[in-house]
Amino acid sequence: MPDFGANDLDAYWMPFTPNRRFKANPRLLAAAKGMHYATPDGRQILDATSGLWCVNAGHGREAITQAIRKQAGEMDYAPSFNLGHPLAFSFASRLVQVTPKGLDRIFFTNSGSESVDTALKIALAYHRARGKGTKTRLIGRERGYHGVGFGGISVGGIPKNRMYFGSLLTGVDHLPHTHGIAENLFSQGLPVHGAHLADDLERIVALHDASNIAAVIVEPVAGSTGVLVPPEGYLQKLRAICDRHDILLIFDEVITGFGRVGAPFAADRFGVTPDLLCMAKGLTNAAVPAGAVAASTAIYETMLDGADAPIELFHGYTYSGHPLACAAGLATLEIYQGEGLFDRALALEPYWRAAVHSLRDARHVIDIRDFGLIAGIELSPRPGAPTARAMEAFEAAFDRGLLIRVTGDIIALSPPLIIEQGQIDQVVETIRTVLAAVE
Ligand SMILES: Cc1ncc(COP(=O)(O)O)c(C=O)c1O
Repeated sequence: MPDFGANDLDAYWMPFTPNRRFKANPRLLAAAKGMHYATPDGRQILDATSGLWCVNAGHGREAITQAIRKQAGEMDYAPSFNLGHPLAFSFASRLVQVTPKGLDRIFFTNSGSESVDTALKIALAYHRARGKGTKTRLIGRERGYHGVGFGGISVGGIPKNRMYFGSLLTGVDHLPHTHGIAENLFSQGLPVHGAHLADDLERIVALHDASNIAAVIVEPVAGSTGVLVPPEGYLQKLRAICDRHDILLIFDEVITGFGRVGAPFAADRFGVTPDLLCMAKGLTNAAVPAGAVAASTAIYETMLDGADAPIELFHGYTYSGHPLACAAGLATLEIYQGEGLFDRALALEPYWRAAVHSLRDARHVIDIRDFGLIAGIELSPRPGAPTARAMEAFEAAFDRGLLIRVTGDIIALSPPLIIEQGQIDQVVETIRTVLAAVE
């Protein structure tokens, strides 16, 4: 086992982690294959969260590893400003066979946060290019998570992610979140009540006038704040209101993309096509950091037609379309297609649903929700110590060989799409045991 002395732990300032608590009792991952991680001392940990909602095809996929290795040997890096390399074009062309029809122009980024900021910037630049430069307001949603860039936290709706960071972007409004309707407790799949919450967009339009509003951004299924499944008809309503007022609709599909909801994208599953779609995570099965925004042809053409400078979009990253990311992404898409993983997720959904809802009578559980291969299990907060119970459940599950994710007092599950039924049973039974044990 490697020697993790105090100095080894000190230098790394860990993201979204209580650093002192972690470093007092570090839980480390050293290897990964298929459905499992292994700890440095060789314990197997069943991965019920696909890493961070990203390793959709399971860990250590040989074809992806080989593609990365081959590309690294041929060309490590190529600039993408005024130059291109063939793999970036191949990857974009292959990707638009998977993205919803009509979203067939791809802008590459390196993460979900960058995809979100890219989409927001495209929305603003697009309206300006078509002579509607007053359309600048951006509308997000309470409890939304759109990464950690200033754009993302401004449209996002998580107080702690916003409150320490100053005035954020101006000109932002938030729709109400769709959670907390008593009749929706323990909904299986889409909750029945709450589509009317989309009508709040009309209130915001009435307040500011549509001539000042650029875009609405939502996660089709909100993940990071504990799996908020949209009420039946809600996304359709949002789409209709955006159309009525010439407002762009952006779907942040960073976690819902690539089979997570039993279809290539949530847009496909819901039959609602946004104007811009953000992706990352499953795009490369997380083997190389990568993200992308898919735009409609109309947006792309408008930008090119309306440009007032030789460059149409003053935006891009040193690593946009990085050769290793493109190699990994192409290999990943082959796996998804070759193994039919998106269909597999859909086929598993009923088993998954029944299994997670069997926890309804487990200790501390006050709500369960699911969609695709996602589940949220909400616990009653410990009086006086919100989030402590879930954090202890996370640690206890890990110590029993199961990786879960907790956010607030909610357990969020999102296993790789290759999970077997027996492993689903193991996930559920371990959680039941853990909940019985934590106070
Ligand atoms: C919906 C959504 N958007 C954006 C992001 C940010 O992605 P990244 O951490 O790659 O920047 C996440 C990450 O979990 C996410 O869930």
